Amino acid sequence: MSEEHTALVQAPGRHRGAGATAVAHPNIALIKYWGKRDEELVVPRTDSLSMTLDILPTTTRVRVDATARRDEVTLGGVPATGEALHRIVAFLDLVRDVARMPQRAVVDSENTVPTGAGLASSASGFAALAAAAAAAYGLDPDPTALSRLARRGSGSAARSVFGGFAVWYAGSGADPAAADAASYAEPVPAGDLDPALVVAVVDAGPKALSSRVAMRRTVNTSPLYGPWADSSGDDLTAMRAALLRADLEAVGEIAERNALGMHATMLAARPAVRYLAPATLQVLDSVLQLRREAVAAYATMDAGPNVKVLCRRADAQRVAAVVRDAAAGTVVHIARPGPGAHLLPAEGR
Ligand code: DP6
Repeated sequence: MSEEHTALVQAPGRHRGAGATAVAHPNIALIKYWGKRDEELVVPRTDSLSMTLDILPTTTRVRVDATARRDEVTLGGVPATGEALHRIVAFLDLVRDVARMPQRAVVDSENTVPTGAGLASSASGFAALAAAAAAAYGLDPDPTALSRLARRGSGSAARSVFGGFAVWYAGSGADPAAADAASYAEPVPAGDLDPALVVAVVDAGPKALSSRVAMRRTVNTSPLYGPWADSSGDDLTAMRAALLRADLEAVGEIAERNALGMHATMLAARPAVRYLAPATLQVLDSVLQLRREAVAAYATMDAGPNVKVLCRRADAQRVAAVVRDAAAGTVVHIARPGPGAHLLPAEGR
């Protein structure tokens, strides 16, 4: 990656090679990202829009170690291996390339989200890693550059750089440098909306198929992908207007149809990708029942069986109780809009 690609600048006079710790929260897309137009640069086919949560953060410490021969990465106290390690080392290589520092790093990451269960662990994970690694290697990215950097680790991480609601642009242009420069997230105004998101964990286990592989298969084989991607642009325009006028019912309706449409594209892939489990459908039925009882509650699902239910903050306890009882073993968390990725104060100062 060239320097022009990232537009990350060296922090003047900053102590290079120090350690840095960053915190980032997961985000849940109300307009989904599903499909890349550039796999290498992680540039999406469509714009997406999400809410960053105030729960389940990831805290990541990066320390540059001039004596280390390779990167040492621990996730939740366990040494990372395989694909997880490979993605983190590749990401650190990008940062080293821009910083022009070859030194390896010691990375320690604590995730409160179950990893790989469609609960946006890669979003909080790579947003925290991007912020911590950039600081540790003496870079000083502005929020746009940090969003573009986080995107290279995992697309949805571009949005977790920002708190509240954020839109992530697909960008345009066939030239990779132009596409890279134009694909970043930024905050979206959300009027007086006072939302909660009830996260219903029906299964905290890792998914059988990664979202990366599933979205590639969907783009390549699903006859429904094109129509969904086209309609997603209209959904995004309508969503922005609904957020501005703080119209929770409209926000919820658009989010629910966009997510169901995304899952329809997967079901039509060859072979089919099906993340929705029987318990998912039981929770979806309970959301419909809540609406029949005049509670504004709307569901969205990612690359996994778990369901996130958007509602008013005042209704969150009731919604949480109903969805928890919908399927045996379901665990619920109530989230509100949370902060963007940020560095913790430097150690020892
Ligand atoms: C269904 O960001 O995990 O959660 O860019 O390949 O790392 P990669 O994919 P990832 O995909 C998230 C997909 C989604 C929808 C969304 O968050 O917009």
